[in-house]
Amino acid sequence: MENFVAHIPTRLHFGKDVVKELGKTAKSIGHHALLVYGKGSVLRNGSYDAVKKQLDASGINITEYNGIKPNPVVSDVDKATSLGRLNNVDMVVAVGGGSVIDSAKIISLCIAGNYKGWDVMKHKVKPTRSLPLIAVLTLAATGTEMNPFSVIQNPETKEKIGYANPLIYPAYSFLDPQYTSSVPVNHTAYGIADLVAHCLEAYFGGGECSLSDRFVFAIIQEAMEYGPALLNDPHNYDLRARIMWAATTALNGLTLYGKANGDFGVHDIGHTLSFLYDTPHGASLTIAFPAWMKVLKSRMADRLVKLGENLFNTPDPDATIAGLETFFRKIQCPVRMSETGIGHEKHTEILELMNQNNVSGNNYSLSKIDRENIVAQMA
Ligand code: NZQ
Ligand code: ZN
Repeated sequence: MENFVAHIPTRLHFGKDVVKELGKTAKSIGHHALLVYGKGSVLRNGSYDAVKKQLDASGINITEYNGIKPNPVVSDVDKATSLGRLNNVDMVVAVGGGSVIDSAKIISLCIAGNYKGWDVMKHKVKPTRSLPLIAVLTLAATGTEMNPFSVIQNPETKEKIGYANPLIYPAYSFLDPQYTSSVPVNHTAYGIADLVAHCLEAYFGGGECSLSDRFVFAIIQEAMEYGPALLNDPHNYDLRARIMWAATTALNGLTLYGKANGDFGVHDIGHTLSFLYDTPHGASLTIAFPAWMKVLKSRMADRLVKLGENLFNTPDPDATIAGLETFFRKIQCPVRMSETGIGHEKHTEILELMNQNNVSGNNYSLSKIDRENIVAQMA
């Protein structure tokens, strides 16, 4: 086992109507909130109204920035930062899914330090403080509500990249599973896929920690048992709650403590598809994971055997990869690019961008030939 420090500075409120605590929380940290959200789903599912009511009742001034897109872009971060600085906000309140909260994380650094978003993402500046961030999560998937990561893309440099900094843990996160009831079936499934992928990235990371492996199996089993049930019964509160908590724990550190790293090569591959074709994050991963496993199979035989024995009752790596594909299909996610309309004519462009961005994992590095084989397997 590797040494580690476990410290999650996020106070997470989970359950029905927890947003009722938001007003007094906001009042304890400031006077003026930059309220950030996406394209409007929060206006329809009640979360925006509930948050606004809380802020108003606590006498918090509000400046709004909306329109954050899925697969968020850095230009929105910069525009929101200018608005926040102009209005002297002293906190950021994000209401939405991973794209909104990830954007808000970088906005909170940029307002505090007067930075450009991309300078932060590329580590050209070294932020020393951030505005406190309150996250109200409306989509179970990324784990951003309790982690120090953000993923943003820049059309100018043709990159979609991750950024990690303890300063961007949300100070407070409010998770009411009721708000996820309105997430359409496809995005619900992509969220389930994302949480499974986070577990697998940890599992295939470097180092050995048996408890980490057990957390991974337990969280994936939760997704395999309750994910399909949720898709058949999308307004079931209990199922929404189980999946929401599973998604948080899949990337809040629990599966990584004691490991040297997570791999995250599959995320890197997925980000290429999301950047080029706006493929939803979870869908990019259900396409990339089986392909990546097929290509790297001989290098990770032991890990595949253990995974298979614990999840699919088989020691056979091929049967394990097939089992994973079957699960992704069962939750109606694509497992080939062709299923999302990405045809053979795109392969060169995908490969070129993967090579340009040196797509690889922390534990299993990918050569140009690996990338070529993975693209062929994703077809
Ligand atoms: O824009 P709005 O109108 O809000 O609609 C969103 C969006 O169209 C909609 N939505 C959200 N909550 C809803 C809802 N629709 C109905 N009812 C609700 N309650 O869902 C769509 C997708 O939203 P998005 O925020 O993009 O989804 P997700 O939460 O899956 O976030 C994906 C982003 O997170 C990054 C991904 O790369 C991607 O950019 N990731 C962030 C990570 C992190 N910070 O730790 C790790 C992940 O691996 C991931 O890379
Ligand atoms: Zn992910």
